[in-house]
Amino acid sequence: SAVNHGPTGQAIAPAGFVSPNGPEVAAAEARRRPGPERKVALTATETTLDLGGRTVRSWAYGDRLPGQEVRATLGDTLALTLANHLPQPTSLHWHGLALRNDMDGVPGVTQEAVRPGASFDHRFALSHPGTYWLHPHSGVQQDRGLYAPLIVEDPKEPLRYDREWVVVLDDWLDGVDGSTPDAVLAELAKGMGGMDHSSHGMPGMDMGGGTPTPATGPSRMLMGATSPLLGGDAGDVAHPFHLVNGRLPSAPETFTAKPGDRIRIRLINAGGDTAYRVALGGHELTVTHTDGFPVEQATTQALLLGMGERYDVLVTVKDGVFPLTALAEGKNAAALAVLRTGGGAAPDASVRPAELDGRLLTAGQLKADASVRLPAKAPDRTVRLELTGGMAKADWAFNGRRYDPAQRYPVAAGERVRLEFRNSTSMWHPVHLHGHSFALGADGPRKDTAIVLPGTTLAVDFDADNPGLWMVHCHNVYHSETGMMTVLGYH
Ligand code: C2O
Ligand code: CU
Repeated sequence: SAVNHGPTGQAIAPAGFVSPNGPEVAAAEARRRPGPERKVALTATETTLDLGGRTVRSWAYGDRLPGQEVRATLGDTLALTLANHLPQPTSLHWHGLALRNDMDGVPGVTQEAVRPGASFDHRFALSHPGTYWLHPHSGVQQDRGLYAPLIVEDPKEPLRYDREWVVVLDDWLDGVDGSTPDAVLAELAKGMGGMDHSSHGMPGMDMGGGTPTPATGPSRMLMGATSPLLGGDAGDVAHPFHLVNGRLPSAPETFTAKPGDRIRIRLINAGGDTAYRVALGGHELTVTHTDGFPVEQATTQALLLGMGERYDVLVTVKDGVFPLTALAEGKNAAALAVLRTGGGAAPDASVRPAELDGRLLTAGQLKADASVRLPAKAPDRTVRLELTGGMAKADWAFNGRRYDPAQRYPVAAGERVRLEFRNSTSMWHPVHLHGHSFALGADGPRKDTAIVLPGTTLAVDFDADNPGLWMVHCHNVYHSETGMMTVLGYH
């Protein structure tokens, strides 16, 4: 391998590429003017989680699901110590942040993994406000429950609202000892292509809380026809647990407010393999941000979130009890939370608000707010990444080559770079770029994760202004883990 390890233990880039701990990285960090320290301690640990009437053994941050929220203020220096109490090496990645490269948390590329029993001090400037999240960049650990929201507040932000609700969606997939995801991977590798846990069983799960509600109901007939995710997931993949903020639909979280309150909802899809169609019964959603960056406000009845995507919406809430439903796209299973401003019975777990079938907004319909629009410029360089592979062989890759940590697509500081994703597979993929935000088309929103539909090409542009080695990958954790992942290297 061309990646070797220097005296500090950090990965050093192959000759000709900027090193994650090189002077260019330090200089970029100094330009962010790191401010006062915000100290946080986070523990990754094996634990028992209560999903609402059902307890499971799994992995989490700080004994809870989602993990303890990290909240800081724009300009802060985040000083977060991660203690690894897991039986495996882990890492911490800050999804969406343009941060210093040697804190990006990609083992073997930007730093070494944090060994069991060890800890790592992350320290970096928070240079952009918004809704982000954090998760390991180690195999499919994220899917075991290792994720947490990260909110960077901007005291000068013009939005006015009465309350804020952070809503984290997850297709929780684990079996107690952490073995299920590997079993799933093995299955994928063998070409069986299924992830139906009813055939694995969930060893060690507390079955005292009632029978599980597997997603075995008939698919909604219209879903295939109306879903923008043409083709959808291959096969009828049944994840038993669709969660909002770590809660099952049978025991949902209830968020209380007063009628007339303006609520900011920060939606985060932390799922490993599921796009969610989200709607709030009886209400329209006013979208204000996606992936941390403001957009020209647009109203919609439903939103589609691929894995890794975030949307901030404003809602002026009516009087009553309303389901916030996140439908697993193309399936009949949903995650649920409840917004309550008055009396009335809680919605049934099977409720499907009509808004789910109403106007559906996807990122391509949004425009960036003028303050964050990427100035028009012809690209200096185009990096072409063809999404290749398929479910049968689980040979997901870019340009037919599975992930090789020693391979880099070069970019140079100061360039306007175009990433051109051509999807030659029969599935959709949420592609994600580390350390930067890209523009989705000329006036399009600034994002770090975007859905590429089957048979289409998506071009996104970004300014190469953050030196280092940065991952580009599909945010379906099974696709990235089996090879749809690569590295952009500043040279
Ligand atoms: Cu959330 Cu490399 O990603
Ligand atoms: Cu993918």
